[in-house]
Amino acid sequence: MKQDPKRLDHPWSVYVIGLLVLLITLFVLGGVINHLAFSSHGPGLLIPLVKKFQKEESPILKEFKAHRKADEHRHFHHFVEYPETPEERRPVCFICHSKLAHTKTKKIRAMLNMHTNFFACETCHLEPVKGETVFYNWYSPMEKDPKGPFFGTSYDPESGELVRTRDHFSKITPFYKRDGLYTPTLHMQQGEMAKDYVKVRDKLTPEQREGVTQKFHTDIRPKGPECQTCHSSNGILDLKGLGFSGNRIVDLENLSIKGMITKYDEFYLPDLFKQSVETETGDQDRQ
Ligand code: HEC
Ligand code: HEC
Ligand code: HEC
Repeated sequence: MKQDPKRLDHPWSVYVIGLLVLLITLFVLGGVINHLAFSSHGPGLLIPLVKKFQKEESPILKEFKAHRKADEHRHFHHFVEYPETPEERRPVCFICHSKLAHTKTKKIRAMLNMHTNFFACETCHLEPVKGETVFYNWYSPMEKDPKGPFFGTSYDPESGELVRTRDHFSKITPFYKRDGLYTPTLHMQQGEMAKDYVKVRDKLTPEQREGVTQKFHTDIRPKGPECQTCHSSNGILDLKGLGFSGNRIVDLENLSIKGMITKYDEFYLPDLFKQSVETETGDQDRQ
């Protein structure tokens, strides 16, 4: 028996309705799967798996994001007071270099600038005098013997966030021991000369400028140490002696520099690094 040929000339509206039904079905199915697997209101079958692939956000970076927000806020309303070191007590480097001193290598400059919130420039850039031993400690331009608690040294056990500190000035700084006294290696004395340079620099030739700025960099090396010099179990800083808590030390020593490549797109790996140095300079402040 001959069958009717299959009808192929449906009106277009049938296709539209069919498509609509299909879309609604997919939408409902998606909702059900989401509820079962990921939603915090459902059984959350796949939540542990998702957590495994998510990297914890760095508490410091979170902190600075919050600060930046507060800072932006402050420009509109004048109620969040955020103290700045008075100009006459700022290390001389800041007279010529801006607070965001690192500009050259895009991938790491934000990371390096972030460290200047709790490190003196010399902590990374000092070329120690031969025969001298360097000791690291917190130094405050505002008080003689700061006691802390210092920025970022421990977590609040309740919230898991960094403990708030009222000391916004102290930074980890290298010291020499001179006649039994710990003396900061900060460059504080050349302030007048640096200010003078800033005033007249436009009148100087590039050679003259170089001659002058060299005087400020006699024991300064152009680059800092690699990340792993501190972020590893045998780092150069005695984190415990500097007041960091046990679990904070574990986190700082085991910081996944590699993880940061994907998470922040900012990293510092010695080999990759050599090839990725860019030649652009954007720091107008120090021409
Ligand atoms: C009088 C102004 C002035 C002062 C003060 C000053 N710098 Fe500089 N610095 C410059 C200029 C200009 C350059 C760029 C030209 C050059 O390489 O000499 C520079 C370059 C640098 C470089 C990169 C060097 C290189 O070879 O790429 C580093 C690192 C540096 N400064 C750190 C410091 C630190 C740390 C301090 C504080 C101890 C400081 N500077 C104080 C003006 C200054
Ligand atoms: C955490 C360590 C660290 C601290 C703290 C630090 N630096 Fe650096 N700095 C580095 C490293 C590493 C480089 C080399 C990076 C590069 O070549 O891009 C560098 C490079 C520089 C350069 C030249 C390259 C550029 O990015 O322009 C200047 C200028 C500089 N530092 C100034 C400073 C000043 C001024 C301070 C203090 C406000 C400071 N640094 C604090 C690690 C540090
Ligand atoms: C001279 C030692 C030193 C060097 C070099 C250094 N760090 Fe750090 N870094 C520290 C210390 C100490 C802290 C924590 C400071 C605090 O909490 O007060 C820190 C904090 C951090 C944090 C925040 C961690 C958190 O839990 O919030 C990141 C991210 C980081 N460093 C990445 C880097 C990278 C990337 C480099 C290389 C470009 C680098 N560091 C180089 C000592 C160093």
